[in-house]
Amino acid sequence: MRIEEKEALLKKFAAEGEEAEAKVPIDPDHPEEPEELPLDKVEEHHFIDTHCHFDDTAFDEDQDELLSAMHAFGVLNVVNCATDVKSCRRTLKIMKRYPWVYGAMGIHPHEVKNLDEDAIAAVYNLAEENARVCAIGEIGLDYHYDFSPRDEQQDWFIEQIELAKELELPIIVHSREAAQDTMDIIRDYEAERVGGVIHAYSGDLQMAEEYVRMGFYLGIGGMVTFPKVKRLIRVVEGIPLERLLLETDSPYMTPVPNRGQRNDSRQIVHVAAKIAEIKGIRVEEVYEVTTQNAKRLFGIE
Ligand code: NI
Repeated sequence: MRIEEKEALLKKFAAEGEEAEAKVPIDPDHPEEPEELPLDKVEEHHFIDTHCHFDDTAFDEDQDELLSAMHAFGVLNVVNCATDVKSCRRTLKIMKRYPWVYGAMGIHPHEVKNLDEDAIAAVYNLAEENARVCAIGEIGLDYHYDFSPRDEQQDWFIEQIELAKELELPIIVHSREAAQDTMDIIRDYEAERVGGVIHAYSGDLQMAEEYVRMGFYLGIGGMVTFPKVKRLIRVVEGIPLERLLLETDSPYMTPVPNRGQRNDSRQIVHVAAKIAEIKGIRVEEVYEVTTQNAKRLFGIE
């Protein structure tokens, strides 16, 4: 993504955050000021962040400080999702330094314009470089921003599904305002042979059930804490916990009450708490079951 596009995106996310915060009624039990998560706090729960971008420039200043502290917050593993070939290389670098970091290799739909076959070959080779490469992603379709032409997005999504099948790796799918085309491509190209996760799932319950029947998982992140997400809440209610994964999409998608700030894996506590609340179960159960789900899908030891 070009720098200007990225800046526009970050600005937009920040504005969305402010807007959402303005809409959230103030809860007397929670401070009005965004809650600080100090680096010395020890988290008693253990979880896996199945979708983050710690190689993003947003972490340039403190990537090491943050990653070194993650275990103290209960983060067992993270799956760092690449977005282009350079990001694949950066992800592998982080994986070499931190043995608990897993990686997904792939080209994000924002980045597929002007790619050629060499890019697919590069992703293939990089995916074979480390045994902790656990998925092909993030791949998919984004008709909201349309940073790449839609036909090119579709072609590259299909090519990368084929690559995942060849490498026998699950896929991590980004789908925004492209629900039906995403489902059609996944079905037509038999992606259920490798399975995967629909990241930041935002479709309806009926489609969620169809994905689950095909063996897919749904990624639940900060969005579930946002106001006016009734449809997503119905999905979380209706889909068994055995099919949900916890994720952050760091540095994006920061949950309430910290919207507008940079996101990182520690903020999953707000997502897990919300899922427990929606399902009327203990948060411990959310951590336990979703951790098993992540281990099963990504082969995390
Ligand atoms: Ni992402």
